[in-house]
Amino acid sequence: MILSNGVVIPDMGFGTYKMAPEDTRASVLCALQSGWRHVDTAAFYRNEAEVGQAVRESGIPREELFITTKLWNTDRGYDSALRAFDRSLEALGLDYIDLYLIHWPASPFFWDNWKQLNADSWRALERLYREKRVRAIGLSNYMPRHIKALLETAEIKPMVDQIEFHPGWMQRDCLEFCAAEGMAVEAWAPLIKGEALGHPVITGIAASHGCSPARVVLAWVLACGVIPLCKSVTPSRIADNLQAASLRLTKEEVDAISALHDVGGRCYNPDNCNFK
Ligand SMILES: NC(=O)c1ccc[n+]([C@@H]2O[C@H](COP(=O)([O-])OP(=O)(O)OC[C@H]3O[C@@H](n4cnc5c(N)ncnc54)[C@H](OP(=O)(O)O)[C@@H]3O)[C@@H](O)[C@H]2O)c1
Repeated sequence: MILSNGVVIPDMGFGTYKMAPEDTRASVLCALQSGWRHVDTAAFYRNEAEVGQAVRESGIPREELFITTKLWNTDRGYDSALRAFDRSLEALGLDYIDLYLIHWPASPFFWDNWKQLNADSWRALERLYREKRVRAIGLSNYMPRHIKALLETAEIKPMVDQIEFHPGWMQRDCLEFCAAEGMAVEAWAPLIKGEALGHPVITGIAASHGCSPARVVLAWVLACGVIPLCKSVTPSRIADNLQAASLRLTKEEVDAISALHDVGGRCYNPDNCNFK
């Protein structure tokens, strides 16, 4: 996919949430050796150093890789966001980051100055982008109401929104809003941590294609025009999941998965989240 600023982002990303630091180096290295070129981490995951180690050990030229990290909630604000970026870059041991995201919006339920806080963080990301320390900037868990508020003062439009997206939780209003604003959408927890994989509609489609249910779900995310981020520490799954890129589902299969309800997952309202 091509972002609104012309930067190419690989269509599938390797997730690293809840990946223990001791598993991260080997799993990211395995992913890179299996063909993954896009890795998603965050300061909050406390595994940026191991992601960076795997990137260097892979020997793959830096420009062939796409590395995302995120600004954590306790670092919101202009100066603190700039400092947090420096820490992430240093932990990763990289010269630049491909995509830097604000992990969660400050919510009006918890912060009287939520708009200002989000705007200040964004101003820091704009500076990092202008200084070419990051190739693209964006948001995570921002719903249209948060993005609209941000756009009141933003000088650079966010290029990406990373949201919870999986069978039963498509957040169509957010998808439509992002499409209208030219923002790419990334899906977190597309497999619902594995919970989606036993659903009869998904296992039925997998059986008819002779492939894993995980491939079906990831191919469905791609068919929705969304970039799936998928985590695994299991080498066979790491390799298998990437094959979703070549699985073509029929329109009926895509529609059948899109029609599912109550499949599981967190189904967060980001305004109720105040993770620290
Ligand atoms: N922006 C945010 O707020 C946010 C929130 C959550 C996640 N994320 C990002 O999105 C990424 C993906 O989300 P996620 O890690 O929560 O969930 P996920 O990728 O939907 O699910 C990961 C789980 O599914 C299992 N799995 C992976 N491939 C499988 C397969 N082929 N067959 C069976 N099980 C399989 C993994 O097990 P094993 O590891 O044991 O193989 C792991 O337990 C994260 O890693 C992170 O980078 C972002």
